[in-house]
Amino acid sequence: MGVETIVACGAGRAASNAGADPGGDGDGRQGLDVSGRMYLVTGGTGFLGSALVKRLVGEGHRVRVLDDNSRGRASRLRDLEGRFEYVEGDIRDPAVVERACEGIEIVCHLAFINGTEFFYTKPDFVLDVALKGITNVLESSIRHRVPELLVMSSSEVYQTPPVVPTDESVALSIPDPLNPRYSYAAGKIISEIVALNYGRDHFKRVTIVRPHNVYGLDMGREHVIPQFVARLKALQQHPTDPIPFPIQGTGRQTRSFVFVDDFIDGVMLVLERGEHRGIYHVGTLEEVPIEAVAAIVAEHFGRPIKIVPGPPADGGANRRCPDITKMMKLGFQPKFSLREALPGVVRWYDEHAHLAPAQL
Ligand SMILES: NC(=O)c1ccc[n+]([C@@H]2O[C@H](COP(=O)([O-])OP(=O)(O)OC[C@H]3O[C@@H](n4cnc5c(N)ncnc54)[C@H](O)[C@@H]3O)[C@@H](O)[C@H]2O)c1
Repeated sequence: MGVETIVACGAGRAASNAGADPGGDGDGRQGLDVSGRMYLVTGGTGFLGSALVKRLVGEGHRVRVLDDNSRGRASRLRDLEGRFEYVEGDIRDPAVVERACEGIEIVCHLAFINGTEFFYTKPDFVLDVALKGITNVLESSIRHRVPELLVMSSSEVYQTPPVVPTDESVALSIPDPLNPRYSYAAGKIISEIVALNYGRDHFKRVTIVRPHNVYGLDMGREHVIPQFVARLKALQQHPTDPIPFPIQGTGRQTRSFVFVDDFIDGVMLVLERGEHRGIYHVGTLEEVPIEAVAAIVAEHFGRPIKIVPGPPADGGANRRCPDITKMMKLGFQPKFSLREALPGVVRWYDEHAHLAPAQL
């Protein structure tokens, strides 16, 4: 399992100096802002984790990150050099989590195997990280008397929701235990249920966030938006218009996408005002067909496309859109429509297409 070390430095330096104490004062906390509250963000070098860490540090909180960088990248936090603590290690290792929870006031648990292709190809690994992760987080938090825990769940817990827009009271569902896709949803459902029930006696506050399709720059490559950009880039040489554009399903399947800045606004509201054992959808009411996403991507390349329908993903949902009434009552109001924010993300993926993830 991974190296365990706590260092108060930028993640790039921590990654290359594992075991060193660059702060020089023995506990690795020299130079940190001591105002605000002390957070642990597991999965803190990932897409959403790093955005949350930046916001928390920006608002004057102290932050410790736990990540094994299996999918995250320390370089995402390079601008925060010297302003957070970093534990490099595996969430499945109880000793790593135990040390990471020391002195923490709020744990935000995001470490998980995300990316739909992994749900199909590595379901046992997805579940291993999910189950051991939440178990270690709960046990260490309780031992260290951490008062608050936020668990990052997912819209996948509904699979095919019977009601759209879907509110937080709709039943969670695993339609087929034999379909490996549901390894992810099962891991999220179990994480929610153990956190909510341990939360009764052991925490002052436990909150659950169910994100609905967050997008932004540098979100990884195993998502529909970066995959559409890569596919269209590869089809650029097609001699005639419209370019035939193969996709999974008909293109009329819907999702609602929330821009990462809006998403983090929502998480901050839950951290500030969420109620004990409260479950919150963070997303938008803008339900869009996947073909509309493809059309915005195609606009960037200046070429018309013709959708070529393919078999749908095995176990994928036809429609998803969250009811966000509960979040709006906390004051949540997403600022960016897909049309406003997506072109910048498409441009970013086009411009960074030549870089391997480790070089970003
Ligand atoms: N991005 C979305 O739209 C979305 C939607 C629903 C739910 N979520 C959830 O939000 C959280 C963050 O998602 P993301 O998009 O940032 O994904 P991500 O893959 O970028 O981040 C997950 C992080 O967890 C880390 N991690 C994985 N296994 C680990 C292990 N064994 N030990 C320590 N760290 C480990 C990875 O290195 C990575 O940095 C996840 O729990 C994910 O399931 C995300």
